[in-house]
Amino acid sequence: MHILKFRRFSLPESQVTPEALVFSPRQAMALGAGMLAAGPALAQQAGLLPAMRNTRYAPGRAITAEREVTTYNNFYEFGSHKTISAAAQRMPQRPWTVKVEGMVESPREYGIEDLLRRMPMEERVYRLRCVEAWAMVVPWTGFQFSALMAEVKPLSSARYVVFQTAVLPSVMPGLRQTWYPWPYTEGCTIAEAANELSFMVVGAYGKLLPPQNGGPIRFHQPWKYGFKAGKSLVTIRFTNQRPVTFWEKLQPQEYGFWANVNPAVNHPRWSQAQERMLGSGESVPTLLFNGYGEFVADLYTNLQNERLWA
Ligand code: MTE
Repeated sequence: MHILKFRRFSLPESQVTPEALVFSPRQAMALGAGMLAAGPALAQQAGLLPAMRNTRYAPGRAITAEREVTTYNNFYEFGSHKTISAAAQRMPQRPWTVKVEGMVESPREYGIEDLLRRMPMEERVYRLRCVEAWAMVVPWTGFQFSALMAEVKPLSSARYVVFQTAVLPSVMPGLRQTWYPWPYTEGCTIAEAANELSFMVVGAYGKLLPPQNGGPIRFHQPWKYGFKAGKSLVTIRFTNQRPVTFWEKLQPQEYGFWANVNPAVNHPRWSQAQERMLGSGESVPTLLFNGYGEFVADLYTNLQNERLWA
């Protein structure tokens, strides 16, 4: 009698991942053995990266070395210093859910894999200017925020978008600093969110976004100071109430809601005229709107009475 015997690693054809969606050996090495252990779903996503670079947003400066960007971080949930990258590796990246809620026609809860597959992925090389006067240039992978807006359809009454970050006490020692108003919350107006520069970031340097930089998903608006870019997001809420954001709650006289980059408006404790490039250490002049004025200046023409710059 013939017995059909499955070998230990045989899979039905329907469950075999198409070759184009599997890591190249180089990608696999770069992601590291730990992440590969997460299984085929993650392997498929890695097939989405690196994405094609969109050259419309040329940064006009050299890309910062990956090592600098991934080892010098602000992520207060892991500690109020720059060397949190090792500690952040303990933050699980899968499963991960992002809830989009509030004043939208179609509220949704996305598994990160589903979101990555649905959204039009591209690479953009953007500048990031921290309010602390250091700066970097990073090839981010992600999708334009307006693509997500098109899917959830904000109501006409919605005026702001609020971004809320994960709170994971078992892996985030910084949360024990109880004087901070956790969760880290940021926000912007609907018009700012809909601007073509507003970008959801899920990768950097052609790979999945590392946890220390806000993996698996963070926001970035390159014309604003970096503290506006909430990391490791779990909730995106559309609302008609302007949020009081994390740093604004702590020190409203130093960190406001708008926080657009402006070399002529100093921080109360230091000058914003120059910035120090991570890596080279070179000091270069700060640019109005971080150099992105042609895309965003129009957003502010009727807002002269607001404190737009810090
Ligand atoms: N997001 C969370 N959740 N927690 C933080 O402490 N810091 C912000 C922003 N997003 C922060 C955050 C600040 S101050 C900056 S400058 C950028 O992240 C830094 O991003 P990077 O570490 O990828 O350079």
